[in-house]
Amino acid sequence: MVQAMNAREKGELILRLRGIGKQFGAVTALEDIELDVHAGEVVALVGDNGAGKSTLVKVLAGVHQATAGTIEYLGKEVTLDTPGTALELGIATVFQDLALCENLDVVANLFLGHELSPWRLDEVQMEVRAWTLLQELAARIPSVREPIASLSGGQRQTVAIARSLLLDPKIIMLDEPTAALGVAQTAEVLNLIERVRDRGHGVILISHNMEDVRAVADRIVVLRLGRNNGVFTAESSHEDLVAAITGASENSVSRRAARKLEVTGDEK
Ligand SMILES: Nc1ncnc2c1ncn2[C@@H]1O[C@H](COP(=O)(O)OP(=O)(O)OP(=O)(O)O)[C@@H](O)[C@H]1O
Ligand SMILES: [Mg+2]
Repeated sequence: MVQAMNAREKGELILRLRGIGKQFGAVTALEDIELDVHAGEVVALVGDNGAGKSTLVKVLAGVHQATAGTIEYLGKEVTLDTPGTALELGIATVFQDLALCENLDVVANLFLGHELSPWRLDEVQMEVRAWTLLQELAARIPSVREPIASLSGGQRQTVAIARSLLLDPKIIMLDEPTAALGVAQTAEVLNLIERVRDRGHGVILISHNMEDVRAVADRIVVLRLGRNNGVFTAESSHEDLVAAITGASENSVSRRAARKLEVTGDEK
């Protein structure tokens, strides 16, 4: 915890991607991607359908292997060859389908796959740990003995996020966490994301909802057709952001790029 606080003050660089590419046969899903994620920040990853967001998350989750470029984790180059490798390093992912077990209760779902005792489940200890974590996150779950099937979409998302925090990752990636939620539940999940950031984790948030993104993101990274297409903040204008996402030619990003081209004569 102390470490997490220190890391946050410094905003320590956790993840650094350079020149990341991913080919699926003849299809180029990602090309020359740059991305930095620091401790205690929310980086939103936005872009149109097929922009490469999920592919990038899967590369970082160890599900897909990049075909070009380097990934540095805490200053060291790493190879994320399996989901286990990514998890062990401290890169956790909440995939869009959540992968919760409907018939099991909250505690069982939190500890699925990493039960406290390998021989006999220590139910009491797991329940205490579950309560403590959910309370730290100020999560609104009626009872940790409630089966997942009886929880709302927002509560399920909360359980999935809490589960990913049990291994105390440095980075947590959320793929469309509010896509299926109503207004109140969305607000709850956004609050949760802020608390996760305040604990010093770096958060990568994929979302199609610009309001959500503006509400919580420290930086907004736009992907378009598998490439970086600008970095924005909550203060950036809506028009600029939408233009970068859709690739409209006349916007401040393209103008800035054009100016840079004039000055440096550089291709980029
Ligand atoms: N397993 C795969 N095999 C072949 N092509 C793939 C595979 N996964 C993704 N692609 C292609 O890579 C590109 C990027 O897809 P990706 O799913 O990353 O987009 P996305 O930004 O997540 O889109 P969405 O907003 O629709 O979820 C698309 O052209 C897609 O067809
Ligand atoms: Mg996707």
